[in-house]
Amino acid sequence: MPEAASPADASASRDAEIAAALGTRSIVLVGMMGAGKSTIGRRLSARLRLPFLDADAEIEAAAGMSIADIFEVHGEPHFRDGEARVIARLLDGGPAVIATGGGAFMREETRGRIRGKAVSLWLKADADIIMKRVKRRADRPLLQTADPAATVGRLIEEREPVYRHADLTIWSRDVPHEKIVDECIEALHGWLRGDGEKQSPDRMGATP
Ligand code: S3P
Repeated sequence: MPEAASPADASASRDAEIAAALGTRSIVLVGMMGAGKSTIGRRLSARLRLPFLDADAEIEAAAGMSIADIFEVHGEPHFRDGEARVIARLLDGGPAVIATGGGAFMREETRGRIRGKAVSLWLKADADIIMKRVKRRADRPLLQTADPAATVGRLIEEREPVYRHADLTIWSRDVPHEKIVDECIEALHGWLRGDGEKQSPDRMGATP
């Protein structure tokens, strides 16, 4: 009698199924600064054996300067144009796991491109978690304000109705990264199996 597949085999075959079902499509992570897009994206890409691309790092490489300097020298509209171009280029090189900057998905043109060439996954995080994480890095130009917590609150209010259009939503919270990655894998697997059913944030993940 053949031996039953071990949980590790089952998980590896599910990861391989996802990579196969993607074809040339990428997985694009969207969401607020500090939601964990790069941290989770890197781990997710390793699980799926796909390249990991960080749009912010690609923008910096293309411009030959830091994001803070691009904002300071050229202004935010210039940064946003460059961001849209870079993401369009990254999407043409799929499949990959792509972490985008928090404002990228706000641009309709970019959302359209992502819809055509990728599966989008919103890493949704609460304001307190975001604040705790963004405090570790002082280089985010949008948070150089008198009251960063109020700025984060305003950005969440403006952006969540748009992030909600992502294909999938996973609640990014203070649990081990691998748990969030597992939930991403689970959601991607279900979505790519063809139901394409949209997850509602109310049905997301377990409690923290
Ligand atoms: C931004 C988020 C940043 C970076 C830029 C603007 C935003 O990326 O693109 O500072 O508008 O939320 P992260 O979300 O990776 O921090």
